[in-house]
Amino acid sequence: MPNKNILFLLSGSVACFKACAVISALVKQGNCVQTAVTPNALQFIGPATLQGLTGRPVYADMFAPRQSGTEHISLSKWADVTVLCPASADVLNKMAAGVADDCVTTLFLAHDFAKPFLAVPAMNSRMFLHPATQASLEKLQSWGVRVLAPQTGRLACGDDGPGRMPEPETVLAALAEALQ
Ligand SMILES: Cc1cc2nc3c(=O)[nH]c(=O)nc-3n(C[C@H](O)[C@H](O)[C@H](O)COP(=O)(O)O)c2cc1C
Repeated sequence: MPNKNILFLLSGSVACFKACAVISALVKQGNCVQTAVTPNALQFIGPATLQGLTGRPVYADMFAPRQSGTEHISLSKWADVTVLCPASADVLNKMAAGVADDCVTTLFLAHDFAKPFLAVPAMNSRMFLHPATQASLEKLQSWGVRVLAPQTGRLACGDDGPGRMPEPETVLAALAEALQ
């Protein structure tokens, strides 16, 4: 799957470290990967790591002075595929409500579904099974978002249940399928 433009969105989950393996593999395959983060994603992963992996600055602050200033629109158009990995419960619920108050949610609201959007939820099973999150996932899927089902297993907090981010190979396979 080389030579694709991949917009890689990260939100505030402990699984951000796992997303780095996906980003690294996509770059090694010859793709151009642009990352964008919620402010809380930067509690889990540093911008230097994302910039080092992709060779491109992280899009983190919509209001930072830049040449164009409208990356929240242009990046959506540029991407062959957009992936939100990890997708926090919070960001999924915000997206389903049409909220656009940071880079990630604004990029989602500027997405027109002409090209695929893949969400990879990663969260505690209580957050995943919460009616708010389940209703949001259903709504997002009805709009055309592809959702990669989380695995069931041991979670970072020690609980056992659904919510674990799938392994990087599974995310890479889902991306390849979305691009077919
Ligand atoms: C140590 C720690 C780990 C967390 N892990 C997750 C997680 O895996 N998934 C999730 O949805 N929220 C997780 N949270 C809660 C989110 O970070 C929190 O809801 C935050 O507001 C999400 O921000 P964002 O959606 O804007 O990125 C975690 C919080 C902490 C303190």
